[in-house]
Amino acid sequence: MDSKKRSQTLTLSDTKTKKKKKPTRSEILRKKRAAEGLVSAASSVVDHLSDLDAFRYYDHEGLSVRLDCGRGDRLSAPVKRYIQNLLKVNMEGPFGPEWPTEEKAKRQEMVAPEARYIFVLDDSGQSMSKKSPDVGRCYRHEEDSLNLVGFVHFRFMVEEELPILYVYELQLEARIRGKGLGNFLMELIEVIAKKNHMNAVVLTVQKANHAAMEFYTRKLRYEVSIISPSRVEPSVGKNVSYEILCKAFDLESREVLEGGHFERNNVLLVVASLTPCSFLLPYFTFYAYQRAMLRAKGT
Ligand SMILES: CC(C)(COP(=O)(O)OP(=O)(O)OC[C@H]1O[C@@H](n2cnc3c(N)ncnc32)[C@H](O)[C@@H]1OP(=O)(O)O)[C@@H](O)C(=O)NCCC(=O)NCCS
Repeated sequence: MDSKKRSQTLTLSDTKTKKKKKPTRSEILRKKRAAEGLVSAASSVVDHLSDLDAFRYYDHEGLSVRLDCGRGDRLSAPVKRYIQNLLKVNMEGPFGPEWPTEEKAKRQEMVAPEARYIFVLDDSGQSMSKKSPDVGRCYRHEEDSLNLVGFVHFRFMVEEELPILYVYELQLEARIRGKGLGNFLMELIEVIAKKNHMNAVVLTVQKANHAAMEFYTRKLRYEVSIISPSRVEPSVGKNVSYEILCKAFDLESREVLEGGHFERNNVLLVVASLTPCSFLLPYFTFYAYQRAMLRAKGT
C-alpha cells in the first residue's frame, strides 16, 4: 500500500480506537516502545530462512523452486527491473487508472531500507543432490536475477501499537500459479512473523483483484481488518479501491485488528457443541442479526 493510503487509514482508525478505549499515555508509550524494539530486532535479522530449511525449497506438481532472502537497499539493477516488470504485468489490471501513481509509489517502496524480500528462483536445472541450505548467500542476486519467478516483499512495522509483519507484495509469474506455492509462501511468512514475535500478518488487496481476495479470505482465512476503510467508515470505504486484511495470532491483537467478534464466534461454537442446538437457536438468530447490523454500520 502506498504511504498516502496508509496515513489515511491510520487517521481513520486512530479516531475509532480513541472512541473505543482510553489507555493512559504512559501505557501507550510503553507498548509502542516494546513494539518498536521487536520490530527493530526482527528487521536486523540477516537471513530469515536460516533456521527454516523446510522452506528453502518447494517441489510440487512439476514446479521446482528455491527461496532466497534480500532487502530493498541491496537490490541489483536486474532484480529491480524484474520486480518492476512483474508488478506491471500482474497489477496494472487490478489497479486500473490508479496504476501510474501506484507504480511510482511501488518503485520507491521497492528500494526502501525497511523492505525485506523472499525471492522465488526457478530451480528446475538443479538436481536434488545439489540442494543444501546455503545460509549467508543472501543479497547476492546478480547471478540469480534471470532465474527469478516471483517474490514476496514484506516489512516489520508497528500498527495500532502492535508489532506486525506487513506483506507489501506477493507476486508470482502466471506460469507457476495454482500449484500451491502462494499458500506455501504465506505459511512461511506466518512462521517468520511468529518467530520474530510479531502479533499479526497484515496486507492490502485491491477489491478488483478477485483471485487474490479469494486466495486470502477463503483459502487462508484472512479477515477484513477493523482498520480497513470499509470497516472504519463504510461511507468512505465504499469509494476506496482496497481492503486491509489480517490474521492475528493472539486474543488482544484479534480484538485490535479483527474487532474481537471472531473469538465470540469460537466460544459460541464450543457452547453449541455442548448444548442441544434448539436451546441456542434464538440466541444464534439474535446474534447473527446483531452482527449483520454492526457490519452494516462498519463496526
Ligand atoms: C495470489 C497468488 C499469490 C496465489 O498464489 P498461487 O500459488 O497461485 O496459489 P496456490 O496455488 O497456493 O493456491 C492456494 C489456494 O488458493 C486458491 N486460489 C488460488 N488462486 C485462486 C484463484 N485465482 N481463484 C480462486 N481461488 C484461488 C486455490 O483454490 C488454492 O486452494 P486449493 O489448495 O484448495 O486448491 C498468485 O496467484 C499471484 O501471484 N497472483 C498475481 C499477483 C497477485 O494478485 N498478488 C496478490 C496481491 S495482494
